[in-house]
Amino acid sequence: MKTGLIGAMREEILLLKHDIENMKIDQLGSREFYSGTIGGKEVVMCLSGWGKVAAASTATSLINLYGVDQLVFIGLAGSMQPHLHIGDIVVADRLIQHDVDLSLLDGFQDVDPPFWKSFHFEVLPDAGKRALDAVKQFTVNLKEKKYPGISNTYQPQIYTGAIGTGDQFVASPEGKTRISERFPEVLCTEMEGAAIAQVAADYQLPCSVIRIISDKADENAHQAFAKFLFENISRISVEIARLMFV
Ligand code: ADE
Repeated sequence: MKTGLIGAMREEILLLKHDIENMKIDQLGSREFYSGTIGGKEVVMCLSGWGKVAAASTATSLINLYGVDQLVFIGLAGSMQPHLHIGDIVVADRLIQHDVDLSLLDGFQDVDPPFWKSFHFEVLPDAGKRALDAVKQFTVNLKEKKYPGISNTYQPQIYTGAIGTGDQFVASPEGKTRISERFPEVLCTEMEGAAIAQVAADYQLPCSVIRIISDKADENAHQAFAKFLFENISRISVEIARLMFV
């Protein structure tokens, strides 16, 4: 199985570049695609940039130009639930484009195939399990102190559930309420996952999304996000990503 691995930001996945054997780098448009193998398994890695368009464009290139069989996204998210704390990890079982609102088209039910009238995408059970197994193994390894670069006190909780995606960095109680009024089930919010899920669904390919909580999507989100990004994320996400290739 050839994996297309996407991160929105350098810190989220780029350290993994050093694990890629026989690496080839292609520049396509503004993006670099790193292809090769990790532990004998084929991978093509790319930084998408922020937002749904960037994510969808990257996912489409990975599928059409590199023939990947699955898409994996790893990155940060803002918590949408009081019990989800900074550092906790969410594995998507559903991805929802929370900023798509067709409610004023009430009664207009007939969207011709192949186009989507729902912007909710289920993660296929095998893909969800692969991601969850990697995250569980990561926390086992953490307990066994296998990662000298990651603090001993970091013991994240793992959650599986709905992830919300929209083209906005959510940083206020009002912003959170706008999302949770329509989608109370959303555990965390980010800017790429459901766009990748839509492209994967178009091509009937599996897709998994793993998000580490960097902030609470509130007034302190900017500072919390920056702090988590610079202090922690590269080591955490690279270790989780590695476990997707064992
Ligand atoms: N990614 C990380 N934190 C986020 C937030 N608060 N809103 C959107 N995307 C995010």
